[in-house]
Amino acid sequence: MKMSIAALLESALLSTLPDEKCSLSHTAHKLCIQTPANALKREVTALIRDFRFAGHPARPKLVPPSKVKSRKFSTEEGYAALLHAVCHIEFNAINLALDAAYRFRLMPEEFTRDWVRIAAEEAHHFQLMRQRLQAFGYDYGDFAAHNHLWDMAYKTAFDPLLRMALVPRVLEARGLDVTPGMRSKIAQKGDEHTCAVLDIIYCEEVGHVQVGNYWYQYLCAQRGLEPQALFRRLLSRYDLFIFRGYVNIEAREQAGFSRFELEMLENFEQSRQSDVHNWRLALQN
Ligand SMILES: [Fe+2]
Repeated sequence: MKMSIAALLESALLSTLPDEKCSLSHTAHKLCIQTPANALKREVTALIRDFRFAGHPARPKLVPPSKVKSRKFSTEEGYAALLHAVCHIEFNAINLALDAAYRFRLMPEEFTRDWVRIAAEEAHHFQLMRQRLQAFGYDYGDFAAHNHLWDMAYKTAFDPLLRMALVPRVLEARGLDVTPGMRSKIAQKGDEHTCAVLDIIYCEEVGHVQVGNYWYQYLCAQRGLEPQALFRRLLSRYDLFIFRGYVNIEAREQAGFSRFELEMLENFEQSRQSDVHNWRLALQN
């Protein structure tokens, strides 16, 4: 018997087995493609489940971000740890996309279709990166990892506007900043296979941030909210920054941020940082 999209998404989200989670994500995507417009069965009789953690395997061991050991890129173990970190981001990204599609079912059907497609793409990214890790004799679960990405999903589970503002537009967009630098280091090492995987990931991630931007604008318009002012307020409220380290302006523009918005954000964050600096000085005196 064919499962409904809602039941499939719930099973995928709760699955603790990476292979099963990936295969259920691909099945959900196929079901979306095969189902005509406006015919996706998203209703469930039970309440949407509230859980602190989405399904994940017993390993990797989850630790606070400060406890994730940094390893030297030049050693074999350090290199595997880097590949593992990317693998873990992709694993979390599957859960984030599944959760958006599962949880926010009062959104238009196109929203569900977008996030199911993204879940399938993230599953593909995870599978490709895991193969790269295996090629070096390691596997997913061999290093400790943190749960920062999922924590933000949990904090924003009650409102799709918050989720779209803070997960794709802040945390996932960060991937666009760091990937080119990582790719060039990996290219110097001569690992062309991993570079090819990163190229696929990077190209599709631009599309994922774009989807987040689209639905953020949609929800702001629906509620009569000014998107840029609201975004600045949310960054302050959740103590998040975009302009820390290198920011890939070109990729962010491709993903739907305007140059004007990025300049406003940079000024805003500089003034927040100088406010913090002034408060610290005032406290010391
Ligand atoms: Fe990804």
